[in-house]
Amino acid sequence: MGSVVPVVAAFMGGLLLLAVPGQPALGQQPVSEATTPEAAVVKVCAGCHGMQLVTDTPRDYDAWHDTVQKMIDRGARGTPEEFDLVMDYLFQNMTPIDVNNADAETLMAVLHTSQTAADAIVTRRTSRPFKDLAELESSINGLDKTLLDAKKRMIFFQ
Ligand code: HEC
Repeated sequence: MGSVVPVVAAFMGGLLLLAVPGQPALGQQPVSEATTPEAAVVKVCAGCHGMQLVTDTPRDYDAWHDTVQKMIDRGARGTPEEFDLVMDYLFQNMTPIDVNNADAETLMAVLHTSQTAADAIVTRRTSRPFKDLAELESSINGLDKTLLDAKKRMIFFQ
């Protein structure tokens, strides 16, 4: 009876050896250069820890800059163009904004608006600051309401 166990263990060991060498398909990165902000952030940033960590903690542009530099020190790799796209992604999607104080350039990038809409925001808030997102959307033409609703946890009125 006792002699059966070692035979089974040896057989399973053989199976394990066969199974180990394959690389998981999900770990393979596309080799072609990423050309959109979304593709660039997945390619450059999701290799070590997945996108969850990147999308968990909104922070301002300078802080993102420092974070990305830290990741480069840890081994993040991409072309200069890809890192520009990564910064675009982080600025457009993961940067909180104070609508009543941000400059026009930041409003354009973070709210994805035209220069005209950004200027209109600055002009209007000088006389009367906005009190919430609904007021912003109803006072300024040309805003992308779907997008603003999607990122409203990052839009502040101080
Ligand atoms: C070579 C591996 C690697 C790559 C590629 C990488 N990271 Fe990281 N990242 C890490 C490690 C390791 C940690 C955990 C250590 C820590 O928290 O400091 C981390 C933590 C983080 C954190 C949480 C800690 C913090 O500083 O807030 C954020 C946010 C982050 N990474 C963003 C990014 C972004 C954005 C990119 C793409 C530019 C990226 N990572 C690419 C290795 C990597």
